[in-house]
Amino acid sequence: MHLHPLTLFGALLLAGLADRAVAAPENSPTGKTCRCLPTQPCWPDKASWDAFGQTVGGLITTTPAAYECHDPHYDDAKCQEIQKGYFYDHWRQHQPGAVQQTNWEMVGDKGCLGFNKTSQCYQGAVPLYTVKAMTFEHVQNTVRFAAKNNIRLAIKNTGHDYLGRSIAASSINLWVYYMKNMDFSTDFVPEGAPAGSSGSGAVVLGSGVMWKDVYRAAEDHKVVVVGGAEATVGTSGGYCQAGGHSPISPKHGLCADNVLQYKVVTADGELKVANSYQNTDLFWALRGGGGGTFGVVVEAVYKTHPAFKSINFAAYQLYFLNATETLPKILNAFLSRQVQWSEAGWSGYVYVLENFMAILYYLPDADLTTAKTFLDPFFGEIEKLD
Ligand SMILES: Cc1cc2nc3c(=O)[nH]c(=O)nc-3n(C[C@H](O)[C@H](O)[C@H](O)COP(=O)(O)OP(=O)(O)OC[C@H]3O[C@@H](n4cnc5c(N)ncnc54)[C@H](O)[C@@H]3O)c2cc1C
Ligand SMILES: *[C@@H]1O[C@H](CO)[C@@H](O)[C@H](O)[C@H]1NC(C)=O
Ligand SMILES: *[C@@H]1O[C@H](CO)[C@@H](O)[C@H](O)[C@H]1NC(C)=O
Repeated sequence: MHLHPLTLFGALLLAGLADRAVAAPENSPTGKTCRCLPTQPCWPDKASWDAFGQTVGGLITTTPAAYECHDPHYDDAKCQEIQKGYFYDHWRQHQPGAVQQTNWEMVGDKGCLGFNKTSQCYQGAVPLYTVKAMTFEHVQNTVRFAAKNNIRLAIKNTGHDYLGRSIAASSINLWVYYMKNMDFSTDFVPEGAPAGSSGSGAVVLGSGVMWKDVYRAAEDHKVVVVGGAEATVGTSGGYCQAGGHSPISPKHGLCADNVLQYKVVTADGELKVANSYQNTDLFWALRGGGGGTFGVVVEAVYKTHPAFKSINFAAYQLYFLNATETLPKILNAFLSRQVQWSEAGWSGYVYVLENFMAILYYLPDADLTTAKTFLDPFFGEIEKLD
């Protein structure tokens, strides 16, 4: 089959948000943008799938996570195991046939959710095959096979994506979650930097490392890394490629500001190094362009920063007798100070409910007296309110 370069590129793009529904080729004006479906002659035969499987360390035929809880596949022992883990992100992360938000496992009203033995189990949006990539070559071989055969590819790391972009019907699931190498360096120099360039503190991360792994190791190395609030989100997938905000972003920038280098497999199957010295356009695109858009990141290198000497932590709970009256005034007093606070390094989270507001704020590397010069005027102002 002849493939236009744009189609190759689209093999990755379309795994995402664009075409979730299973559309027949005739639905497309050109017939060219739709992926091949198992019901069509273009679908590879068993021998081709088997041969492909040999190049990726084995292919996992993928079923929905609760498959063995449904007739005619019901298996009592397996179903009990499934029920133990079903509602936990840690368990879901390790299932080829699951993502974190189960609605994305459905196509329309067809899926296989829950444990009702007699209800029918449909494949829904769960990919048909999973490649558990352990090497860069596995990733390259998968991308090439999907492009050559015009098969939809869904890149999955932890499966946390709120918009369901790590799962797609009739697809191959390229599962990058098990490449877990992590290496701290005090003098990392990007590949291709001019001779004699000085190195900087960095952590080299395989595509499947989660934030909780990095946070633990960073503590041992007495450094901090800009990462997210949720420990089970991946470090190198959707988080950083879409920007990646962190409680320490006012101090050290977004995750995307901290990338020193990516190794990435592009839609032509090539492994590329992207940094400030080579493939700079790709490097730029990967720092904000969003997961699953410009290639498969197989390794990321992020800056490390010296450990904070101290962190002030301010935790307040405010209750309102009459929120209609008080809340607008409090928000006004709070929000009008945020630019100033942020520039001083404050950050954190604020929750506003009907009669309640919680403030959880951090100020790294400052003493208590300094912290109070921000907090005291704010609380002085709101204490005057009824
Ligand atoms: C509880 C919770 C808290 C969160 N807190 C924060 C936060 O503090 N700050 C913040 O910025 N975000 C936060 N997020 C959002 C989070 O960053 C996104 O959901 C992110 O997309 C998850 O990325 P993932 O790789 O772990 O998940 P996945 O669902 O596996 O992947 C997300 C997207 O990236 C693609 N992708 C995955 N791996 C790769 C790869 N190696 N190469 C190319 N594409 C890839 C997928 O195809 C998909 O499009 C939070 C999410 C949750 C669920
Ligand atoms: C289980 O599924 C069957 C078949 O769809 C349905 O008739 C029944 O009401 C379901 N039971 C429960 C408890 O939801
Ligand atoms: C709360 O404040 C609003 C606005 O001032 C007022 O209209 C309302 O009556 C107050 N409600 C109560 C229960 O006091």
